[in-house]
Amino acid sequence: MANQNKKIIAVTSGNGGTGKSFLTANLALELYKQGYHVVMADLAFSSAHLHHYLGLPYPQATVRQFINIPEVTLDKYLIDVSVGQNTDERLSSLKLLSSASDVYSYKMMAASERKRLYKAMSQLPYDFLLVDLPPGSSGLQQEVLSFSDTVLIVTDSSAVSLESAFLLIKKQIFYICSSLFKKNKEVLHFLDDAFNPQSGLNIDRVSEIVSAVQKLDKEIHQKIIKQLSFLNWVCICNHAEAQEGLQISEVFNNLIKKYLDQKISFWSTVRSSGYLSSSEKKKAPFLINAPDDPAAVDISAFAEALTGQL
Ligand SMILES: Nc1ncnc2c1ncn2[C@@H]1O[C@H](COP(=O)(O)OP(=O)(O)OP(=O)(O)O)[C@@H](O)[C@H]1O
Ligand SMILES: [Mg+2]
Repeated sequence: MANQNKKIIAVTSGNGGTGKSFLTANLALELYKQGYHVVMADLAFSSAHLHHYLGLPYPQATVRQFINIPEVTLDKYLIDVSVGQNTDERLSSLKLLSSASDVYSYKMMAASERKRLYKAMSQLPYDFLLVDLPPGSSGLQQEVLSFSDTVLIVTDSSAVSLESAFLLIKKQIFYICSSLFKKNKEVLHFLDDAFNPQSGLNIDRVSEIVSAVQKLDKEIHQKIIKQLSFLNWVCICNHAEAQEGLQISEVFNNLIKKYLDQKISFWSTVRSSGYLSSSEKKKAPFLINAPDDPAAVDISAFAEALTGQL
C-alpha cells in the first residue's frame, strides 16, 4: 500500500514536442525501480501516447469510460505496467491511466465530471502521481497545475521553448489570482489589464500587481500570497549538455524572479539519446533497456534529486 505522503507531479511545457511523455514514462520507471508506488495519468486525450514509451499495446481502458460509468471506480481503469522484475505489490507498482482511445478533448467534459476525475485521481493509492499534459496553458493544464504539489516544466534550449515556459508560469499566476477573485468584477478587470501588456497600465511585474491588489481587497491579497507560496516549479532542459543547461537556468531564473516573483526550485538537464529511436521501434521502455545511456543517467539523477526534495 502506498504511503500517506502522496505527491502529485504535473508534467507540462509551453510548446509541444519537448519530451514530456518520454520523460514522464522514464521518470515513472525510475521511481518504480527505486521502490515507489507510481501512477501515471496521461491526460493528453486525443494525442495521448504515453503507452508508446512504455512498450504497451494501444490502451482500451480509458478516462472517458470512467466518466461515462460512474459506478466503476477509477482504479479499475488502471493498466498494470509493473515491468517484470517485481511481482510483489507491497514493494512497488507502476500503473497507467490512459486517455488514448478518447477521441474528444477535455472541453467535452462538464466541470463536475472533471472535478470527479481529479478527485478520484488524487485518491488512488500511490507515492507519486505523474500527470502528463498536452503543451500550453489552457483550462485543463491550469486546473491540474492548481492541485499539483510540483510542476515539472520540460523545455529545450530554444528561445521559443523558454519564452513559452515563462508565459506558462505567468498564466498560472493569473489563473490563481483570478480564481480567487471570481466574484469581485472590479479586481478581475484590474487583473485582466495588469496581465495584459497592451492595456497601458505599465505594470510589468507580478509583485507590483499583487501589491496593487492589496489596495483593492486586503483579504484576497493574503489568499493570493498564500496560494502563490504553494507553487513548486522544477524544470528539465531536455536535449542539452549540463553546461548549457546551467547557463540557461541562470538566465531563466533571473527573468522569472524579476518579472514573476517566482523561482525554479531545482533545474536539471537531460542529454539527447542516440539509442532512443531503436528503443521506440522495439517498443521497449528506454530506461530498462539502456540504463547507461546519457539520457537515462540524467533521468535517474533527476529522480533522485526530486525524491530528495519532496
Ligand atoms: N533526451 C532525448 N533524447 C532523444 N530523443 C528524445 C529525448 N527526449 C525526447 N525525445 C524524442 O522527442 C520526441 C518528442 O518527445 P515526446 O513525445 O515525449 O514530446 P512531448 O512533449 O510529449 O510532445 P507533445 O507536446 O506532442 O505531447 C519523441 O520522438 C522522443 O522520443
Ligand atoms: Mg506528450
